[in-house]
Amino acid sequence: SNADIGLVGLGTMGAMLALNIADNGFRVAVHNRTTSRISEFIKDAGPLAEKFVPAETLQDMIEALTPPRNIILMVPAGAAVDSQIAALRPLLDDGDMIIDAGNANFHETQRRAKEAQQTGQAFLGIGVSGGAEGARFGPSIMGGGEKQSWDRVAPILQAIAADYDGQPCATWMGTDGAGHFVKTVHNGIEYADMQLIAETYGILRDGAGKSASECAGIFETWNKGPLQSYLIEISAKVAEAQDPETGKAMLDVILDKAGQKGTGRWTAIEAQMLGSPVPVIEAAVAARNLSAALDQRSMGEELFGSLSGSLPPEAADSKLLEQALVAGKILCYAQGFDLLARASAEYDWSLPMPDVAKVWRAGCIIRSAMLDDMASALETEPVSLFFAEPFRSMIAETIPSLRRVVVEAQSAGLPVPAMASALAYFDTLTRVRGTANMIQAQRDYFGAHGFERVDQDGKDLHGPWLDQHLKE
Ligand code: 6PG
Repeated sequence: SNADIGLVGLGTMGAMLALNIADNGFRVAVHNRTTSRISEFIKDAGPLAEKFVPAETLQDMIEALTPPRNIILMVPAGAAVDSQIAALRPLLDDGDMIIDAGNANFHETQRRAKEAQQTGQAFLGIGVSGGAEGARFGPSIMGGGEKQSWDRVAPILQAIAADYDGQPCATWMGTDGAGHFVKTVHNGIEYADMQLIAETYGILRDGAGKSASECAGIFETWNKGPLQSYLIEISAKVAEAQDPETGKAMLDVILDKAGQKGTGRWTAIEAQMLGSPVPVIEAAVAARNLSAALDQRSMGEELFGSLSGSLPPEAADSKLLEQALVAGKILCYAQGFDLLARASAEYDWSLPMPDVAKVWRAGCIIRSAMLDDMASALETEPVSLFFAEPFRSMIAETIPSLRRVVVEAQSAGLPVPAMASALAYFDTLTRVRGTANMIQAQRDYFGAHGFERVDQDGKDLHGPWLDQHLKE
């Protein structure tokens, strides 16, 4: 028994995580279902090889670890996690712990946490963000499970996590599925952030005739301002890249059909279940789905034609677009944090809202300069980022640009669903008299569902139509 922690699953993410843990001085027992991968992995580990204990079987892994054992699973989310747990469970002692580090659906984490409780074993569900590079050199880690279980492995998780100003980006979010839920919302925001950037790219390309490399220059400039973020940084890099085969801009040869593994969709689904509005995230998920309908799009263009898409130069101005993107981004984060607050109440997690913003400041895909201010804002204004300074002022300042960009893009026939829904969200939240009185009247007319009045107390009031039309 001489390893500090076990790790099952030596795919890209698992391998990178194992190297990171070893690099931080811990001994790792490693196992993979296809066992040839184990020796291959250790052979490729260079000077870190001595930190690994090969475990050909799960029993070998058990023997390599001192109880209470901690074993990380880094296998594809879903059935593979359950089958690994089922294989491990009979070999484990009371108090041993399984840590699921994949992108699990938090409902499954809730179930697995409950099942573990019944066996006397511990279970942690941790969301790990940052792709392969993050896993190797410092991811952002969002933990969920019993606090004492987290505390047991916190020294390892904090050692391997990204560092923001001396603070590790590895935080316990709450019990059972809290960590995986926070990771899911991270991904929902990731989808929205990416879609907003893609829409500005579309305006630059189709609205202003900019080349990919001109777009790269603009993203690079944005990355020095309020939009500074990993996603803007890599957008500049991908826009700059050339296809080695054709010499064309890489972006120009990539099919405009977006893939997805599902976490963005889960965010939209969970938000719907909780009645929490996240329209920008929903628009981003819908945009990915629509992008996949390539045949329909090509038939659509053939039958209906498409508008020129070209914008007056001042409407495709990079400063104006930057401001529009700032507004869209803040509104989408406000929605994400509102969803977290609602889920926290529903699932009894007491999510530490400012710490969520803090854990996203480094290591993860949505890391950005804005998140540090978001952490402070959420400390002073836990209700919503929408009302918290400096974001309140930033929204007020940038909304006119968002409005201009949306109006011009839509007039030119350029789809900007995420920006448009951010704007509609703002316009809805800043108009005390909305139009749902019409919905309520309709509901009452056809189903006697009742309404409230603006001038009297009481619920379940009805309109004059009920008796009349039921008699007709
Ligand atoms: C991260 C990412 C990652 C995600 C991929 C692919 O935080 O490191 O969110 O976990 O799985 O980016 O996601 P999609 O295939 O759904 O785009």
